[in-house]
Amino acid sequence: MAMNVAIDGPAGAGKSTIAKAIAKKLGYVYVDTGAMYRAMALFFLRSNISKDDEAKISSVVDDINVSIKYEDGAQHVILNGEDVTGLIRTEEVGNMASATSVYGPVRSKLVALQQELAKTTDVIMDGRDIGTVVLPNADVKVFLTASVECRAKRRYDELVAKGQDADFDQIAKDIEERDYRDSHREISPLKQAEDATLVDSSDMTIDEVVEAIINLCNK
Ligand code: C5P
Repeated sequence: MAMNVAIDGPAGAGKSTIAKAIAKKLGYVYVDTGAMYRAMALFFLRSNISKDDEAKISSVVDDINVSIKYEDGAQHVILNGEDVTGLIRTEEVGNMASATSVYGPVRSKLVALQQELAKTTDVIMDGRDIGTVVLPNADVKVFLTASVECRAKRRYDELVAKGQDADFDQIAKDIEERDYRDSHREISPLKQAEDATLVDSSDMTIDEVVEAIINLCNK
């Protein structure tokens, strides 16, 4: 049986950084499910489909083929044959992904792909609904969170380090809004699975979080 580790939590809690580090240490494959929602969102943007046009979005889902490949240990997302890994990390695509991930047909297509990947491979998968919906029988489930102030501060420092303008209060407000949207949507809202371990990374270093989760995997 393949080993499955699920990491869920709000935006900016450090899920991908932590999951990548653990995958490397344990020799598992890291599956970034947000990247899949982003690839779908890129398709909708390129097709000039409005984020509110549920009927149109539902009707084109079958034309979209999203797959994953691994090169030098890094995940690449393939959209209808094109490697879009470098194109999906923009605010525009992130916002579109957040808006279009609420639709049932979008979710069921990607959930099936995620479940298929986890069946045969040792994975550490991060997202919003992994422990609750995608891998309800995961061997280890973690709900990784951090305070709004702390997540806003990390994002603020990241932008400043890149030499970009940053407004701390605006960032904190955006994070609160996204938390609310992700937690209150009808299908697969962000919530801690009953059997997940809560890890609050507000006062922990990356290494401490990685070690805490590896301890859970070794139990
Ligand atoms: O994690 P990331 O910011 O890349 O995810 C983009 C968007 O995709 C999120 O805002 C979230 O709404 C959605 N998502 C989701 N379920 C997942 C992963 C991401 O709904 N498992």
